[in-house]
Amino acid sequence: MNISCIDLFCGAGGLTYGIKKEGIHVTAGIDTDPACRYPYEKNNKAKFIEKDIKEITAEELKELFTEDGYTVLAGCAPCQPFSSYRHGQNSKDDHKWGLLYEFSRLAKSVQPDIITMENVSTVSKHQVFDDFVNELKELNYHVWYSVIDCSKYGSPQTRKRMVLLASKHGEIRMIDPIYDKPKTVEQVIGKLKPIKAGETSSIDPLHVSASLTPLNLKRIKASKPGGTWRDWPTHLVAKCHKEKSGKTYPSVYGRMQWDKPAPTMTTQCYGFGNGRFGHPSQDRAISLREAALLQGFPETYQFVPEDEQVMMTKVGRMIGNAVPVDLGQAVGRSIVNHLSSL
Ligand SMILES: C[S@@+](CC[C@H](N)C(=O)[O-])C[C@H]1O[C@@H](n2cnc3c(N)ncnc32)[C@H](O)[C@@H]1O
Repeated sequence: MNISCIDLFCGAGGLTYGIKKEGIHVTAGIDTDPACRYPYEKNNKAKFIEKDIKEITAEELKELFTEDGYTVLAGCAPCQPFSSYRHGQNSKDDHKWGLLYEFSRLAKSVQPDIITMENVSTVSKHQVFDDFVNELKELNYHVWYSVIDCSKYGSPQTRKRMVLLASKHGEIRMIDPIYDKPKTVEQVIGKLKPIKAGETSSIDPLHVSASLTPLNLKRIKASKPGGTWRDWPTHLVAKCHKEKSGKTYPSVYGRMQWDKPAPTMTTQCYGFGNGRFGHPSQDRAISLREAALLQGFPETYQFVPEDEQVMMTKVGRMIGNAVPVDLGQAVGRSIVNHLSSL
């Protein structure tokens, strides 16, 4: 079966890589971040188009699909406007708010056989999501969407994401969960070479962990897997956490547990103070390679050319932004199963 796909907001290629594993031919990805070109093209053998989605036309997209076969438009618009981390702030003014409307515009003008969209679970609380779904229904798509527990599809994370699938050819839905028991942190990163905070592995430049201040080194030593800063002696606790309001945020400065899935990877998951991103047994935050593995990228996935220095913020952003590869693969399999049944 010939199925070609274009990935809008492709990033470093998490969604593309997963979809490709199911035999779908991803011809191109579009993204404004130039840092994504290298990992996207190197690991996926697909064309990277550095362009704002707002400037993309239907004609450009149509030319990117292969001539015969089914067409898929996939995309994961930036999640920031809907993220629960914004604690209910009114995000109407965020310029990224309109990017789902851009996705809708392209869906309407291209009308591919299949459309798939991934976003944070709270996206459905917003008008923009209702408008997106209603537009697809008006175009005679059969639309299915649900909040998916990624760990049930092989991702070693407690990550929940909204997945939407729409087809011109009849009912479509996500395949049933594959895993009863989530994969654990140990299964995925347990075999990596131990490194210290601030150290880089001699065999893999991506296996690098952020350095820690002397205070944070003391704090991580006092941290228990699965615990919080509440386990620390008082003199190590940050002033803001000692105040009454700070006590409601226990989910920072945590260590992962070997026998549990990891928390949701974010763009700052390489920082000990940014969430529960402490390594389960070594006194450091997880390395970029560990974060990439927890996002489902294979150990061979290259994010930076060999002669270039690894920049934590740049690579962390690409890894944290990615759709977990396992989720992308489950989406790909759902599409293939649906089209095979026609
Ligand atoms: C959630 S990430 C997508 C991750 C990607 N699907 C993956 O699996 O690796 C959103 C992406 O949208 C890109 N982006 C933001 N604004 C954009 C725009 N106006 N046009 C195109 N891409 C944009 C960002 O650079 C970021 O890579």
